[in-house]
Amino acid sequence: MIAPFELDWLGGAAATRLRRRRPGIDELPWSTLDPRGLDAATLDAARAAWTDGAFSEYASAAAFAALALALLEAGAPIDLTAMAGDFVVDEITHVELNARLAAQIGGAAPHLVELDRVAPVCAPGPAIARAAELAVRICVIGESLSVPVLVSAARRATHPLVRAVLGRIAHDEGPHARLGTLVLGWAGDRLAPHRDRLIAAAVRALAAYAPLWRDDADTSPTPDDASAALGLLDAVTHRRVLRRAVRARVVPALDAAGLAPAPEAIDELLGGRVAA
Ligand SMILES: [Fe+2]
Ligand SMILES: [Fe+2]
Repeated sequence: MIAPFELDWLGGAAATRLRRRRPGIDELPWSTLDPRGLDAATLDAARAAWTDGAFSEYASAAAFAALALALLEAGAPIDLTAMAGDFVVDEITHVELNARLAAQIGGAAPHLVELDRVAPVCAPGPAIARAAELAVRICVIGESLSVPVLVSAARRATHPLVRAVLGRIAHDEGPHARLGTLVLGWAGDRLAPHRDRLIAAAVRALAAYAPLWRDDADTSPTPDDASAALGLLDAVTHRRVLRRAVRARVVPALDAAGLAPAPEAIDELLGGRVAA
């Protein structure tokens, strides 16, 4: 069902437990972000970016929940499974951080979502193959692409609150990407019968991201200082960071697990001739 993206907060025992597990959120300098000093276009761009950010973090929480379940079904080591479960809470915290940024400047932008389709879907198969596929799609690709984007945005942001929020999120995301390599390393040779499926899943996942780094739809305005201060990356920088991440992070991690797509497939994915 398609519905407006809305978030709720229960408070009481649930909130107390979350704060105990992930302290320091209320202590960030929330009051320093004053929308009165920002022009309408910057405010609109920031509200849209942080609303979109909140939903993509929400989807990441669902993704790690799905990975945790697949690892449980595969009988994975309990500490490895615990990482995936723990990352659900990280991502929920990132949802809150993005939502509170948007709230500081007037609230979320309108955003329609289908929550009953938020979790990633895998083709049926043995649990170890499903866990590996999710690790490739979520960690080796999705998280590896988002880490340098967040680091780059955090570095550029000069506003103290935005810098603190982006820095905190970026700090959490590195281990999220590395979990992929840990899952693939644990599964090891048992993935041999599933290699073609996993490489095909990697290509599909990269193709789904490809529109974000294609050059042919650049209608974005030139970056300005107010947007940069809020950590909003201009389109040219965003594309450059993503392309570099594919070459420097994603392909080496896939290659180390014996799951790298053919070099010409990567070239084509980066070349802008790919249908999403
Ligand atoms: Fe996140
Ligand atoms: Fe993450």
